Amino acid sequence: MIPKECKRLIEVDFPIAVVSKHSAREKSIRHGHPSTLHLWWARRPLAACRAVLLGLLLPDPCDPHCPDEFKPKAREALRPLMSMGSKDADLQRAILKFIGNFANWDNSAHPVYLRAGRELVKAAHPEETPLVVDPFAGGGSIPLEALRLGCDAFASDLNPVACLILKVMLEDIPRHGPDLADELRRVGKEIKHKAEKELAEFYPKDPDGATPIAYLWARTVRCESPNCGAEMPLMRSFWLSKKKNRRKALRPRVVRQVGQPPRIEFEVFEPKTDKGVPGGTVTRAKATCVACNMVLPPERVRAQLAEQRGGADVVFDKKGERTGGGRMTAVVTLHPGVQGRHYRVATERDYQAVWKAQKRLKGILDEWEKGGKKDLCPVPDEPLPPIGTLGFRVQRYGVLQWCDMFSARQKLALMELSESIRASGSAMAPAVRGLLALAIGKTSDLGNAGVPWKRDAECPVNLLGSKRVRPFWDWAESVPTGEASGSFHSAYGRTATTIQAALGFSYFPGGTECADAAAVSLPTESAAVWFTDPPYYDAIPYADLSDFFFVWMKRMLLSNSLPADPFDPSNALTPKRQEIVQDESKLVGGERKGRDFFESAMARAFREGKRVMAPDGIGTVVFAHQTTEGWEALLGGMVSGGFAVSASWPIATEMPHRPRARESAALATSVHLVCRPRPDDAPVGDWADVLRELPERAGDWMERLQGEGLRGADLVFACIGPALEIFSRYSRVEDAAGNVIPLGGNPEAAEPHERGYLAHVWETVGRTALEHILGTAEARARNGLAGALEEDARLTALFLWTLQSTGNEKSSAQEGEEGEDEAPRTKPTRYALIYDVVRRFAQPLGIHLEDWEDRIIETKKGVVHLLPVSARAKQLFGEAGAQAAADWIEEQPHGPVQVVLFPEVAEGAAPEIRGRKKRKRRGALVSDEDLKTQREATTLDRVHAAMLLQAGGRTAALRALLRAEQDRSPDFLRLANGLSALYPKGSEEKRLLDAMLLAAPR
Ligand SMILES: C[S@@+](CC[C@H](N)C(=O)[O-])C[C@H]1O[C@@H](n2cnc3c(N)ncnc32)[C@H](O)[C@@H]1O
Repeated sequence: MIPKECKRLIEVDFPIAVVSKHSAREKSIRHGHPSTLHLWWARRPLAACRAVLLGLLLPDPCDPHCPDEFKPKAREALRPLMSMGSKDADLQRAILKFIGNFANWDNSAHPVYLRAGRELVKAAHPEETPLVVDPFAGGGSIPLEALRLGCDAFASDLNPVACLILKVMLEDIPRHGPDLADELRRVGKEIKHKAEKELAEFYPKDPDGATPIAYLWARTVRCESPNCGAEMPLMRSFWLSKKKNRRKALRPRVVRQVGQPPRIEFEVFEPKTDKGVPGGTVTRAKATCVACNMVLPPERVRAQLAEQRGGADVVFDKKGERTGGGRMTAVVTLHPGVQGRHYRVATERDYQAVWKAQKRLKGILDEWEKGGKKDLCPVPDEPLPPIGTLGFRVQRYGVLQWCDMFSARQKLALMELSESIRASGSAMAPAVRGLLALAIGKTSDLGNAGVPWKRDAECPVNLLGSKRVRPFWDWAESVPTGEASGSFHSAYGRTATTIQAALGFSYFPGGTECADAAAVSLPTESAAVWFTDPPYYDAIPYADLSDFFFVWMKRMLLSNSLPADPFDPSNALTPKRQEIVQDESKLVGGERKGRDFFESAMARAFREGKRVMAPDGIGTVVFAHQTTEGWEALLGGMVSGGFAVSASWPIATEMPHRPRARESAALATSVHLVCRPRPDDAPVGDWADVLRELPERAGDWMERLQGEGLRGADLVFACIGPALEIFSRYSRVEDAAGNVIPLGGNPEAAEPHERGYLAHVWETVGRTALEHILGTAEARARNGLAGALEEDARLTALFLWTLQSTGNEKSSAQEGEEGEDEAPRTKPTRYALIYDVVRRFAQPLGIHLEDWEDRIIETKKGVVHLLPVSARAKQLFGEAGAQAAADWIEEQPHGPVQVVLFPEVAEGAAPEIRGRKKRKRRGALVSDEDLKTQREATTLDRVHAAMLLQAGGRTAALRALLRAEQDRSPDFLRLANGLSALYPKGSEEKRLLDAMLLAAPR
């Protein structure tokens, strides 16, 4: 047994960089990775879980309390892999190296590594196999790794879909072994053949023998222009394939016939250039009529689609003639003996198959109604969450029940497959059925009416990977009875491959449970390790998203193999009440699920963790959230739940250059907070001591992490670990007057007991960052102090510093994503950060954000944008522009630059700045006089002016300005150099700054 006093290895050191590298790489491994068993959002990389678990399970060999018997056994375990010196420090280094190497996916099932890992754990826990507990287990990364290391594992989650994944992975696969994959293939094949036969008439082959593998569709609305009335296909793009040497697109043609509205016809063609393909017809729900160019506003598009319940289905008349609704734009086929995918336009025959499917579905539903609706409705008629639910934007388009997410033919196919699964028999029946249900999950994720067609890969893209259910205009319907991407065949085949890969190493089954993390069924003091990855505040609406899968699963699994809501058996969907998430659209006992709910629910879960943890046990909580608010809520729960943080390690889990979710500093790392149960008799801390220790610890930590490649917001949040170590070791912290200092508080307040500890943490981190970038003066400076650069320089520097991303040279804020209902971005987005983050930094550093609105920043919808320098030209030089200013500077090289900046203000008029209105600032209107005084040119203004002169090619004026600035003070160059180090490589600003600095006289 490792004594309580003995530090675990993770409390002393951890190979951050190498584990980060392997964790980030793991995301690109798709084939056979356990995560491919079924989608679960924000799965932890196995590499990080494995490495952290080893660090938690093993004692530090250099600790004086390290059990003597551990060291020789650990040396023996590592002998086949490495040699080492005889000192304890050598052993420590060797174990850390092993942890790093074992994190590599390629070594994860290697028998030598596996044996060494398991022997190390055994050496540390000779008497009893340690139990690892994860009460927010989701897709099961942490418990799976615990089993890999030879531990016992207990995994629970509130969500039944997660529980099914956990049961399959942690119980069924190890229990049945490789036979399970064979049985899955056997039963899957039978079901596929049956469905193929049953549904053949709905997926006919082409008369020329070609096989359709996908049907491409567009939702349609009617043009409301009085003289038009054309049916408008809603298409983001007319491209079909962008694959090299196989570029194909659709060309729309308007056919006009007297007395009828214009008709849009399509033809498939091979575009020679990108310009040859017309632009899409819809952006941000605004649709353009191909026939008359009229724009239909979003509210009308919404209203028309709502009338069609989302618009996926074709509307036919009694004779089977299409009259509206979904429009098939193209059919993707395979030709026997010919390579590649082929595209043709839709024919009457294609629509006939859809009509037949609609009639068959109607027949089934009519029968169910006639039978008194006794059983579950054959199609998922459960409601979608209400409008405004986090992550859901389709309800206003008429998608109100889960069945509205599918077209009639898709529903029919999923019903047929589900029924066969329910009826399937097998020696391993419940396990195989569970696996088949997961395979249907994959099929439905690729087989619904919100699936886009990926033009460069020529395949459908699953809907729910994006963690959002948002409106899609054009979509791809795969053939579930076929064998291509999106088919049931491919889904169960991939599931079988995952089983075989998972069994690349053998492991004993673990225990799983569907439970609220605040009340698990484990005995008190049973867990050696409590390692969990709780929900990330408002990032993912797990329960609502998982209903997409749940509604089908409950139709194919017997009730005893799919847990219903244990708290409310009448709930037809996954449990919501107990789900820990910050989502104001949800009510619990009349209260919104806001920050308080999140914090107190988290505290309950932590308290439960403390209960099940052995007194000598250790825990780790993973968290990655972009806002300080999310962090504060989690930490509040952790501290009040009775834990003390003993170490923390940020681990990068994202690939550099990853696509971004939003134009803000997304984190590449998640912080692993190592914690121990805080003793009930922990001392009271002195606020003055805490405050003294904080800057030093934060400074040292930032230095170490920068050395490990951490940057920007990742670095900020990683500093929470040491900050909390200082704070959470005490039962409470008090100031000299006996006031208790809370963890969170009102960041605007002056008194520490009102302001809270975390506000001091953000301030310290911001100050330390500023010191790194601009030097000591700025770090100390409050507004207006001599020797410091002005507020706008500090704001800009901090902003850019926070935006830097770990392992990524290019600022991620510049990348854009092509959201399905968002305009495709043709130019890079501006630098942007979440308002909450900027505010927390700015305020304690004496930066008043509202003063710099429209001058340096622009805040919209909770996101603060840093204005690009180019957007400041008019502001700085007025209507006459940079060229006129340059003329003036060239004529009077020694004149003060101030004179040419803000000319409108100089003339007494309020400056005209885009979008500027008289704005309320802290309750008062800003007068023109205020604005005028604010328009004194700052060092940053002058640096920007120089950059604009550089951009305009006004070398002589630039030199004159630089000379004048050098005479004035070193601030100009100090700031320019600082900013040049912060702007992302390849950005226009960096190019201008570097060119300008080259021109500076030395
Ligand atoms: C970040 S995820 C865990 C992901 C997991 N580590 C993995 O690698 O897949 C958080 C999980 O917490 C679960 N959850 C939310 N509220 C819960 C509660 N009250 N009790 C138990 N689990 C809950 C969600 O269903 C979700 O699966």
